[in-house]
Amino acid sequence: MATHHDEEVLGKAYDARLMRRLLTYLRPYRGQVAIALGAIVAHSALELAPPYLTKVVIDDYIPARDLSGLWLIAVLYLSSLVTTFGLEYLQTWTLQMAGQRIMFDMRMQVYGHLQRLDLKFYDRNPVGRLMTRVTTDVDVLNELFTGGVVSVFGDVFTLLGIMGVLIWMNWRLALVAFCVLPLIVVITQWFRRHVRESYRTVRTWIARINAFLQERITGTSTVQLFRREARDYADFVDIDRAHRDANVQSIFYYAVFYPAIELVSALAASLILWVGGGWVMQDVLTLGSLVAFLQYAQRFFRPISDMSEKFNILQGAMASSERIFALLDTPVEIESPKGGASGVPSLGHIRFEHVTFAYVEGEPVLKDVSFEVRPGQRVALVGATGSGKTTIISLLLRFYDVQEGRITVDGVDIREMDLPVLRALFGLVLQDVHLSTGTIAENVRLGRLEITDAAVRRAVDAVHASTFIDALPRGLETPVAERGATLSVGQKQLLSLARALAFDPLVLVLDEATSSVDTDTELLIRDALGVVMRGRTTIAIAHRLSTIQDMDCIVVLHKGQIRESGTHRELLAAHGIYHRLYQLQVRDRAGESGDPVVAGQAGAAGDSVAVE
Ligand SMILES: Nc1ncnc2c1ncn2[C@@H]1O[C@H](COP(=O)(O)OP(=O)(O)OP(=O)(O)O)[C@@H](O)[C@H]1O
Ligand SMILES: [Mg+2]
Repeated sequence: MATHHDEEVLGKAYDARLMRRLLTYLRPYRGQVAIALGAIVAHSALELAPPYLTKVVIDDYIPARDLSGLWLIAVLYLSSLVTTFGLEYLQTWTLQMAGQRIMFDMRMQVYGHLQRLDLKFYDRNPVGRLMTRVTTDVDVLNELFTGGVVSVFGDVFTLLGIMGVLIWMNWRLALVAFCVLPLIVVITQWFRRHVRESYRTVRTWIARINAFLQERITGTSTVQLFRREARDYADFVDIDRAHRDANVQSIFYYAVFYPAIELVSALAASLILWVGGGWVMQDVLTLGSLVAFLQYAQRFFRPISDMSEKFNILQGAMASSERIFALLDTPVEIESPKGGASGVPSLGHIRFEHVTFAYVEGEPVLKDVSFEVRPGQRVALVGATGSGKTTIISLLLRFYDVQEGRITVDGVDIREMDLPVLRALFGLVLQDVHLSTGTIAENVRLGRLEITDAAVRRAVDAVHASTFIDALPRGLETPVAERGATLSVGQKQLLSLARALAFDPLVLVLDEATSSVDTDTELLIRDALGVVMRGRTTIAIAHRLSTIQDMDCIVVLHKGQIRESGTHRELLAAHGIYHRLYQLQVRDRAGESGDPVVAGQAGAAGDSVAVE
């Protein structure tokens, strides 16, 4: 529910603080906006001309039988229309251009900010919601700039202009025409109130549709596996129907509003005909004025209905901008220190000193964790599922910041290091390998063009990934589907090892996948690991104890605390947790073929045998 909750909030229709901030986006394009404004005002002024020209023809030239006068008026009439066309073109073009540029600026700003936000933020904010910020919300603002703010000036100008001309021509008849204005006020108020409400409802249901689809589409295999299709279909019918009904409701208000305005306009026209016609008979009013009045009356109501429409745009834009600004104002918590970032560490000596960390306040995941990885040393982290192994890696890379204690590299607190410098030290092979769309080679290189084709080939060969890559139709140039969906888990692991090797990092960080791969691939991966680790400082999280027996140090983690550490032999001799895990492994090995597994991988079953 939290996903779409914020979509339901519709704030004020106009908020000066938000508006001021929005207008700052117009600033770089003020030249264009000024041109558009000028065009709009000139356009509105010109619109006043044709009815008046009609009046001149009827009142002056026709009675005087002045053909050349008629000719002149016809030319004026036509040229005013042509100029109107030109102005409209100018206004549309400049406004739309500025609007597109503002949207571009805004999207880049939002995306740039999203890139800098830390993982804690992403833990709290569903992807679907953030997508909406960058796409739909920015679009709504564009509507405000191109169709709203600026052209409202035109509407106001047209309204005032027509009122002025009417009063000037004949103030009594003008008052007759204005009789209908209270009716207009009542109708627009009714329309605004209801449309605002239904706009809110429609937005809510769209957000629900998005949230529902996002969840179910990503989980298609689960849905199909548990045969939930029929139930999900029924759920979606409800949501979709509510969305349709909300839209139908809003169509009703539009369908009533526009004809109602027409009706009032017709009412005004008949009043003018009745009263004005009488005055023409009494010679108090000229026929030309009557005709001009009728034409003006017609033009008078269009900006009124336009402005009601723009009111809705304004409303939506305020809500969207509020959400965009809230996102832009989210502070970036993990940043490079301001000023004087330290140099690049050359050794890669890592120390955790009394580190305590909680994702959620009051629920520490790591408690007083201290250990050290000396340059060239290979350290393994083992422990049950949820014991905090991956968390240690996330802290080391500053995806999150520690709450107590500190982490140092070559004696420097990582919070005092430049972030890109820190992260460039590590080659990361994570539990779930992230591949992007592109070719296999591009995924190994990951945008670092200085890694040559030959280097990619060497890395791929070294980790034995070439076995499967060469079997693919286009080898290294084979495209990878989104999220690497077309590759197996083992293949993705090999690729990410190749990636780590190609980057040649100072420190290698491995978070072994828990999912099992077949024995052949397992052997390939183990061998590949050996290649990548050779002579390199390594921190490895292992679920299969067999891979880590010859590590320099094994750190055993239990419920966020370090309980044992030492070499494989030392730990076995100590008869502690590690010993018990190892026993389990041996038993497993006797029981069935295939590799033994640390308790952690077995989940709940593992927990019960771990300690206590
Ligand atoms: N982003 C997060 N927000 C809140 N809690 C989290 C988050 N990530 C992990 N946790 C919690 O922190 C604890 C440690 O998680 P961690 O991922 O470090 O375990 P792990 O030792 O790597 O487990 P596994 O062997 O299954 O990979 C778990 O209890 C988990 O529920
Ligand atoms: Mg993990």
